[in-house]
Amino acid sequence: MKSSPRSAAIEEIDKTRVPEHVAIIMDGNGRWAKSKGHIRLFGHRHGVKTVREIIEAASEIGVKYLTLYAFSTENWNRPQSEVNGLMELLVETIKDETPTLMEKEIRLKTIGNIEQLPAKCNLQLAETVEATKEGKRMTLILALSYSGRWDIIQAVKKIARDIQSGKTTPENIDENALNSALNTGEFPNPDLLIRTSGEQRISNFLLWEIAYSEIHFSPVLWPDFKREDFYRAILDYQSRERRFGKTSEQMLPH
Ligand code: FPP
Repeated sequence: MKSSPRSAAIEEIDKTRVPEHVAIIMDGNGRWAKSKGHIRLFGHRHGVKTVREIIEAASEIGVKYLTLYAFSTENWNRPQSEVNGLMELLVETIKDETPTLMEKEIRLKTIGNIEQLPAKCNLQLAETVEATKEGKRMTLILALSYSGRWDIIQAVKKIARDIQSGKTTPENIDENALNSALNTGEFPNPDLLIRTSGEQRISNFLLWEIAYSEIHFSPVLWPDFKREDFYRAILDYQSRERRFGKTSEQMLPH
């Protein structure tokens, strides 16, 4: 493997061992903007360019599910002008990208408490989800007004209601039952989680789902994160041995 973090090339990737599901915490837009003397929204606008590039790169190498943490439950606490700007950017980007998503056979899905988003956002999301529903190449999952704890709580409430109505019993609650009550229930768990910007935290993202995910922390701020950085993360993933609690010997083919 080459040593430079910028040198990863698509040819180095083993196409037979591409992670099926990659989840990304896109971090560093604010710091990127500040370092250039601009307001935070400038960073988010440039972050959208990276979003486009990484969606394309992921679908090209055969990733089947790509989850992007676009807006967390905690992000509602940011200054109103930033929240409004992000919502505008979201509607605008999703609208603009719908023809490309359709053409590239990418299906859009959302996770999170999207009822909290402005009506305009919800309308656009519903329109794009519907327009791209036949996309078979890759599923793009946007986490919006999402947090891992929120999802676990809503799943527990759903199960509690099912017990109350007699549809299930406490004895029937297992990993599968909780999995399917989560917003992420229809998707496989992420194989690889990437966080940009040098921060090494999970920040309430996919808490249940990342139990066995490999984690790649990139020092690059999201607006500077290029397809080569994404390939680097994939190569890092491919260099790991995933044992799911077993020994190396048990993982050898019989
Ligand atoms: C984190 O950077 C980024 C966000 C909270 C928003 C991410 C949103 C986008 C990239 C644009 C819209 C997305 C889509 C999918 C259309 P930060 O602001 O926390 O950066 P900082 O840690 O440097 O302050």
